[in-house]
Amino acid sequence: MRFIKCVKLLVAVVVSLFILWLANKPRNTHDDSGWDLKNDDVAIPIKFGKNQREYIDSRGIHVVVGRYVGDSLPGPSHPNLTEEVLNQNNFNPIPSQGEWGEPVAILPHEHSKSQSLYRIHRFNLLASDRIPLNRTLPDIRKPQCKALSYNINELPTTSVIIVFHNEAWSTLLRTVHSVINRSPPKLLWEIILVDDASNRTFLKKPLEDHVSVLPTTIIVLRSEKRIGLVRARLMGAREATGDVLTFLDAHCETTDGWLQPLLYRIKTNPNVAVCPIIDIISDDTFALLRSFELHHGGMSWNLHFRWFGASETLMAERRGNMSIPFRTPVMAGGLFAIGRDYFQEIGTYDDQMDIWGGENIEMSLRIWQCGGRVETSPCSHVAHVFRKSSPYTFPGGVNQILYSNLARAALVWMDEWKEFFFKMNPEANRLRDAQSIRSRLSLRSRLKCNDFNWYLKNVWPENFFPGPDRFFGKIIHRATGKCLERPLGGGGVSQPIGRLKLVPCVQQWFDAHLWVATWNSTRKDGRTLPGYLMSDESLCVDHLDGEARAMACSGFSKQLWHHNLRTNAIVHGNSGLCLSISRPPETPGEVSVHSCDGSSEQQWTLQPEKWS
Ligand SMILES: *[C@@H]1O[C@H](CO)[C@@H](O)[C@H](O)[C@H]1NC(C)=O
Ligand SMILES: *[C@@H]1O[C@H](CO)[C@@H](O)[C@H](O)[C@H]1NC(C)=O
Ligand SMILES: *[C@@H]1O[C@H](CO)[C@@H](O)[C@H](O)[C@H]1NC(C)=O
Ligand SMILES: *[C@@H]1O[C@H](CO)[C@@H](O)[C@H](O)[C@H]1NC(C)=O
Ligand SMILES: *[C@@H]1O[C@H](CO)[C@@H](O)[C@H](O)[C@H]1NC(C)=O
Repeated sequence: MRFIKCVKLLVAVVVSLFILWLANKPRNTHDDSGWDLKNDDVAIPIKFGKNQREYIDSRGIHVVVGRYVGDSLPGPSHPNLTEEVLNQNNFNPIPSQGEWGEPVAILPHEHSKSQSLYRIHRFNLLASDRIPLNRTLPDIRKPQCKALSYNINELPTTSVIIVFHNEAWSTLLRTVHSVINRSPPKLLWEIILVDDASNRTFLKKPLEDHVSVLPTTIIVLRSEKRIGLVRARLMGAREATGDVLTFLDAHCETTDGWLQPLLYRIKTNPNVAVCPIIDIISDDTFALLRSFELHHGGMSWNLHFRWFGASETLMAERRGNMSIPFRTPVMAGGLFAIGRDYFQEIGTYDDQMDIWGGENIEMSLRIWQCGGRVETSPCSHVAHVFRKSSPYTFPGGVNQILYSNLARAALVWMDEWKEFFFKMNPEANRLRDAQSIRSRLSLRSRLKCNDFNWYLKNVWPENFFPGPDRFFGKIIHRATGKCLERPLGGGGVSQPIGRLKLVPCVQQWFDAHLWVATWNSTRKDGRTLPGYLMSDESLCVDHLDGEARAMACSGFSKQLWHHNLRTNAIVHGNSGLCLSISRPPETPGEVSVHSCDGSSEQQWTLQPEKWS
């Protein structure tokens, strides 16, 4: 039975795919208060919704690029729910529900109730409340991971720190119970629950009563005032006495063997923050969905966290032994383990960062630049409820907080590249002078950290930021004066990713019109060396069936192009075909690839933009 379920799960994975759900810039400004933990703006749904764009990448992997859909949902988050409804704890487990990570079926007559409750947390609370706190989950580790054994007596202990704000009883306590049930007691020193000013009545005494009888030391810390993720985590960290701090979001479920690989990595390599593979708990059915392991955390030009497909370089690094933790330029931030002493030594968090957003970027750059590593352990799997939108909102508006936080990260860690970020983000630029960063700069100098240039070269060689040896600017079609644009996404309109377009150029910086070309020199015959044409979101110009498409940058030669400065052509390396405007019967305005004929349709100017 269990085997069949595992097989079903695996089949689901094979049929389904690699999915990237790119977080959009949250544009909402609500007046409620709150934060949501990292990952929540990075949902990875298995369904193909309207807002998602999909394509097959060069490895034949089905990639879906979706977007944060916060704006399209009506806010405030739960307009018609009364205090009484919000304070009710309807946890009502049925033993067979959700077993082995199976979906919970909501019967037709329950739909309206489930939809109404959905608005509280932006997940299906009715489904969650039916699943026992100790539900079983399949062991989704790879065979080579299951084969590893650890000497528990030699591993460090951990304090698991879980911050919550008005979390549902069932999701919060399933997180706690899954940690207790799936961690060797010897390694689980304590669980610290940090309540960031919740006011749901069931999270008060009932919570304390419930955890007081559990077989693990559980400490509940409460903040009366809303302090946000960073300061709440710091509050938990100050109290912690285990050797390692393991931070988890409040709606997770750990799976078999999740803890040992994290602790083992820290034991053998103390200067590391190590993340588990984050699997998916459906926000709708609470089914466990296995996520594709071949992706890693990165960021966009806006410094928003992104999942990107693993590059060729990373794949090559991993090929030796797929069970070894791998390099991760940016961590998602919700779930990771770090040595308690190292956490202190490396400067904890920037406690001037409010609510949430950007703290994972700051921490990732800091750890890497100051001599540590951020990694993902493929043998540790923790499932997380990915929501399609945040149930919380930001006091003072999301932009103010998020962009202040991002401005801080850029000012402290990005050196000359910060100008690139600020030029791309006028909102953040307006907030830069208001930041006082002296203590973070002195931390940086005390730790003798490397610069951002070092980070780009060594940690993220496949990055798509501009650089001194790269072209950065617009690609303009000479005859029409129009700009090459990569597909825009989202905006609530279903739009398949892929086709490049020619559109009127705009004066201001617009990321969809800005390109990096990695060719850096010209040969005697007037051709540049081959290079990649990259845009934000790690998209590269690719050639597919006569069409010029934006596809995930793969590092494969298939995506190499060169510019011929004599003919002004942009030539595809493998095929020798030229980038061209569409010809009838193709749709006007789209960009194609045709055999080179020197015509005006194939002549391009690369117009550099100054960025630093
Ligand atoms: C919520 O309340 C408003 C006004 O009080 C009402 O018009 C609306 O229909 C209600 N919505 C739901 C889903 O009950
Ligand atoms: C979960 O806990 C209940 C009692 O609370 C117990 O009867 C049941 O066997 C447990 N299930 C598992 C899978 O451990
Ligand atoms: C909880 O806080 C919200 C606003 O933050 C308030 O509207 C609500 O009345 C409070 N509920 C309780 C039970 O105190
Ligand atoms: C892979 O690395 C692990 C340590 O993480 C080691 O125990 C294992 O033997 C290695 N496997 C192979 C095939 O080298
Ligand atoms: C061009 O790029 C190659 C590969 O990245 C590098 O080895 C070379 O030094 C660069 N040349 C210049 C002039 O920047």
